[in-house]
Amino acid sequence: MNCKTYLYLTLLIVVLSCCGFTPADKNQNRYASFSPGEVWEDDQGVAINAHGGGILYYQDTYYWFGEHKGERSNAAFVGVTCYSSTDLYNWRNEGVALSVSDNPESPIVKGSTIERPKVIYNAKTGKFVMYFHLELIGRGYEAAHVGVAVSDQVTGPYRLVKHGRVNAGIWPMNMTEEQRNSNVKHTDFEQWWTPEWMAAIKDGLLVRRDFEGGQMSRDMTLFVDDDGKAYHIYASEENLTLQIAELTDDYLDYTGNYVRVEPGGHNEAPAIFKKGGRYFMITSGCTGWDPNAARLLTAERVMGTWTLHPNPARGEDADLTFQSQSTFVIPVQGKRDAFIFMADRWRPRRPIDGRYIWLPILFEDGMPVLKWFDEWDLSIFNNK
Ligand code: GAL
Repeated sequence: MNCKTYLYLTLLIVVLSCCGFTPADKNQNRYASFSPGEVWEDDQGVAINAHGGGILYYQDTYYWFGEHKGERSNAAFVGVTCYSSTDLYNWRNEGVALSVSDNPESPIVKGSTIERPKVIYNAKTGKFVMYFHLELIGRGYEAAHVGVAVSDQVTGPYRLVKHGRVNAGIWPMNMTEEQRNSNVKHTDFEQWWTPEWMAAIKDGLLVRRDFEGGQMSRDMTLFVDDDGKAYHIYASEENLTLQIAELTDDYLDYTGNYVRVEPGGHNEAPAIFKKGGRYFMITSGCTGWDPNAARLLTAERVMGTWTLHPNPARGEDADLTFQSQSTFVIPVQGKRDAFIFMADRWRPRRPIDGRYIWLPILFEDGMPVLKWFDEWDLSIFNNK
């Protein structure tokens, strides 16, 4: 290339990029802030389709995994999608990480229910491990399975390796001998929600019912602690009680250590984070796609004891968590004690139009507080 051509080419590139016309850059640095509840487009200018999601930070990049939703159905007709970002504002579409199957025998056949996928990286095996809530086709929400899928590449393709209930034949660590051996059965109760029934639930009525087949697992998240140990946190016992189960070193199985959290407390949509050696969990109540007031729990150890606190949301619409339901808490890299509350504003009549509510987690007297912002950016974390 002679000197003149080189100069012309350089000039052309400068002019095109100044005008924002280089195709690769078209939508890439479009956002410099978060606008909760507004349509959020990817690098192709298409609304991000990754609901009930979770974020993995790997090699200087954030990866967002979520449920692909259709125009009319909440069922899985595509699978789990993946987007990547280096700044948390601008997201590149990385395609489908876990695809549904065309095989009617597959547990993840098109039309099954795949919700709240979360991915963690196992440094020992070099594998990316995805857990998600799986409901088998045609059975509503009755199966209450967890699905586990694995990939060698962060963006996939992920391969389903197993699915089922949790910790079959094993008692939770925090159930007493008396509770384990009780003869009270769920068939003893004609009516739910009576004081006697609630007392029995707290005493592990449904843990005993599901002991042999394994504990139910619906809304869920994963958490990796500083020591590399990972935990599966899920709504169990007909969504009446959360359970936290420790995973094996390869993250593919359970160690058998698990606890019940807030028995009978009716918590779901768990999102967990750790700050200053203390564990925080934000959850919701159980009202399906409709929003309700968030709850907050804290613990000194991940396996508890967990203490319940009032709704961390403040201001207008706080009693509906700003019309949203928790899904994940993102630790912001490179900033101390900076966390983003990630939630979904579901639109069950047009699921694809569900909106993302990302808000900064602020702290008052050491406790997390959520406030609404029409628009905000990461500089909010600077003045701490
Ligand atoms: C919500 C749950 C969602 C989805 C929905 C179905 O309570 O958080 O993930 O399962 O119920 O009605």
